Amino acid sequence: MERILVTGHLGFIASAFCWNYKDRFEITGVDFAGWGSMEENVAPGTRDLRLDLADARALAGALDECNPAAVVNFAAESHVDRSIDDDTSFWSSNVMGARNLALEAQRRGIRMVHVSTDEVYGDALEEEQAWTEDSPIRAKNPYSVTKAAAELMLGSYAHTLGLDVVITRGANTIGPRQYPEKAVPKAVTCFLEDKAFPLFKTPARRMWMHVNDHASGILAALESGKSGEAYNIAPLEANEAYTHDVIERVQAIVGRGEIQPVEDRKAYDLRYWMVADKAHAELGWKPEYDLTRTLEDTVAWYLENQDWLAAANAKLAPIRSRDN
Ligand SMILES: NC(=O)c1ccc[n+]([C@@H]2O[C@H](COP(=O)([O-])OP(=O)(O)OC[C@H]3O[C@@H](n4cnc5c(N)ncnc54)[C@H](O)[C@@H]3O)[C@@H](O)[C@H]2O)c1
Repeated sequence: MERILVTGHLGFIASAFCWNYKDRFEITGVDFAGWGSMEENVAPGTRDLRLDLADARALAGALDECNPAAVVNFAAESHVDRSIDDDTSFWSSNVMGARNLALEAQRRGIRMVHVSTDEVYGDALEEEQAWTEDSPIRAKNPYSVTKAAAELMLGSYAHTLGLDVVITRGANTIGPRQYPEKAVPKAVTCFLEDKAFPLFKTPARRMWMHVNDHASGILAALESGKSGEAYNIAPLEANEAYTHDVIERVQAIVGRGEIQPVEDRKAYDLRYWMVADKAHAELGWKPEYDLTRTLEDTVAWYLENQDWLAAANAKLAPIRSRDN
């Protein structure tokens, strides 16, 4: 079985990747167990190492131990509001971490898949056409700026050092094991606890993608992506929906709850809108989950795993109270 190193395996999307492909690869996960991570997320069979990607020596040691055929970089600080408060850790993880991993991959002559985001394109509210990979990069908040910076850095390493890198730009993702500061698990928590869900008052659209579709897109990029290229990974076109519609559907599935309009976050992007035609044509990848299945599967998981949700919320509680 091929050995790969996955970063951020205690987080949401990387853990789904590890659960889904644990029989396909021998996986070593590296994570510093930081914000958004849950020890409960480790997939069976995944070797579980703890280190900060910004620590180049520790990372080199882990790669020596694992000797992987490829690395897949999920690890990142990813919460926009936190990046607006203080982006220091975002530059350390999202740029320096990616840099250290890329230079190790290049030194070893192995492929790096870098998991980026549609947020690098900015806000599509005024756009007439959905983003393609050739659309301008217009990241607008500190989180997405660090993701865009990492992409430019990796592109330069591909160009100057011959790094074998493939970049994926995934859409807004939901599914099992997402930390409850993000909209859907936060809504399930609020509804179960009879607390009002705080919804930003300006309507915003997102393309809601099931984490299994995101994971299969990343696998396709790893196996079939062209070196130096970026691929949009988007759900079915009809999965685009306003956030308030999605939260109301979550409320209906849970069967109770209140929604309370609140002031928007600063720099609130109102639409992310892209097509994944290049991934369909070049990677042979297609998303499978429509919006109904995405929401039903996601909410069902939180309802069936309320211990996980309670543990994640307990971890979040001191930080929420510090914020208030
Ligand atoms: N969630 C989404 O909707 C979405 C959409 C598109 C792209 N992405 C990208 O997917 C990736 C994963 O996102 P997620 O939602 O699973 O995030 P997450 O916060 O759930 O997981 C990130 C993991 O990375 C780890 N990590 C962060 N910095 C690290 C460092 N310096 N060293 C070691 N580990 C570190 C954290 O401890 C955490 O376990 C990110 O790169 C993100 O930009 C996310």
